[in-house]
Amino acid sequence: MAATIPVPSDGERRTASEKVLVLDFGSQYAQLIARRVREQQVYCEIVRHDITAERIQQIAPRGLILSGGPASVYEEGAPLCDPRIFRLGLPVLGICYGMQLACSALGGKVENAKAREYGRAHCRVTSHADLFEGLPDEIDVWMSHGDQVSRVSADFLPLAATKTCPIAAVKHVSLPIFGLQFHPEVTHTPGGSQILGNFLKHVCKTSGAWKLGDFADEAVAEIRQRVGHSRVICGLSGGVDSAVVAALIYKAIGPQLSCILVDNGLLRKGEAGLVIKEFSTHFKTDLHVVPGEDRFLDALCGVTDPQEKRRRIGHCFIDCFSIEAAKIADARFLAQGTLYPDVIESGASPDGPAATIKLHHNVGGLPKDLQFELIEPLRDLFKDEVRRLGTQLGLPDEIVWRHPFPGPGLAVRCVGKVTQDRLVKLREADMIVVEEIKAAGLYRQTAQAFAVLLPVQSVGVMGDARTYEDTIVVRSIDSEDFMTADWSRLPYDLLAKISTRIINEVKGVNRVTYDISSKPPATIEWE
Ligand code: XMP
Repeated sequence: MAATIPVPSDGERRTASEKVLVLDFGSQYAQLIARRVREQQVYCEIVRHDITAERIQQIAPRGLILSGGPASVYEEGAPLCDPRIFRLGLPVLGICYGMQLACSALGGKVENAKAREYGRAHCRVTSHADLFEGLPDEIDVWMSHGDQVSRVSADFLPLAATKTCPIAAVKHVSLPIFGLQFHPEVTHTPGGSQILGNFLKHVCKTSGAWKLGDFADEAVAEIRQRVGHSRVICGLSGGVDSAVVAALIYKAIGPQLSCILVDNGLLRKGEAGLVIKEFSTHFKTDLHVVPGEDRFLDALCGVTDPQEKRRRIGHCFIDCFSIEAAKIADARFLAQGTLYPDVIESGASPDGPAATIKLHHNVGGLPKDLQFELIEPLRDLFKDEVRRLGTQLGLPDEIVWRHPFPGPGLAVRCVGKVTQDRLVKLREADMIVVEEIKAAGLYRQTAQAFAVLLPVQSVGVMGDARTYEDTIVVRSIDSEDFMTADWSRLPYDLLAKISTRIINEVKGVNRVTYDISSKPPATIEWE
């Protein structure tokens, strides 16, 4: 069957001259590789591992990076690449599985290593040209492999070795093809950025001219051209993504933007007020605030199942949003804060990898039949890039650096029934957690910090009286991508202060616990 050639995305048109592609072989680090490349100011996209040589020629990237992956190249059904990509004359860097694939495709032998290597390893560099230019003879690297290249054909030169991996890096003698058995993209390989930078600069000959500022200017020009004199609707949630979308569209079309904030009564303390203040003063947009608290709480009455809560909140949201949107005349476009990881993970990118198994509990989205054309100006960006863009667009730190907040809001942190009373308790406790973490200067270091209200009462004593009251869990996590997370090692003094304040200030709570579970196996949210 002939494959149809997808239309280039906005990002492709914008940045075609200096693009690098990451071929994803199922690596947990594929997105990290792409981010590391972008950090070197080179635009980078993730594509399927079996992208054809013709399609690559059409995209005309400066180089290819083959990611790692969990498979063995000699296993049946292992993800392979089009072998013709090695003959395109393009620079190729294979990482871990990617190196094994490149070497085996070009005459080398891959075997299960006698000693598997996971974690830090000491690496001796034997050739300082190209990839290792400017690096010392001995470097620490991060290994994570069971297989390794045991023999290379005469076409390859070994460049580095560890104790158990004699071929830890290679270079092809006549083609611009390189391989690294270790992972340069992780922070545990301290020279990793330099090695990637060397590949991009010396081998791919990129100039490193990709800038977010240019991205904003080009996105603004495109939005103007596409929208013309129509009106764009943008839903605001209080989160950074929707705020940056709104700011970008406002920059492009000013008063033709209408924003809708559905106040579902499940927001954090002061959240709706902050958004209203910001968007009505700073941006002077046409802002519609839909007071939906009663409707949402009615819908949640007696519901304790987390997915049922999400489903009902999702429906209420769509109803409130659609009714308000119908009141806005000339609205033709709907702007959404879709980010690059969403595009990749949903399998929605034309060349991108197939959808990965990610539990997407987000039912707060809008249905496709809303009759609007979608504008998704952030679909090429990672979260950290969105934050930088927000700052460039003049959004205050308070919005740009807000921790993410789930669409179903406090409902999934009010374990059990969601009632007005319980929400008040949770909101107060949550505010204390965030306030104290900010006061300790740890808000940016932590990825998400919040309170959870349990449907568990315990015995306590206050003054001389016995109490039997609620429990608050404090949850604070460190994470790069929210797919994995570790609990924050908050100082004891800070935890003590949070606990004392919550018990003293939040009526009906007599016990505070700290959640020390990592993800996996726990999730970040409790529901
Ligand atoms: P979990 O709990 O799955 O959360 O580890 C990962 C990230 O997703 C957020 N989250 C949600 N976001 N709708 C959202 O928009 C949801 O239903 C939802 N559930 C979890 C969570 O806050 C964390 O950042």
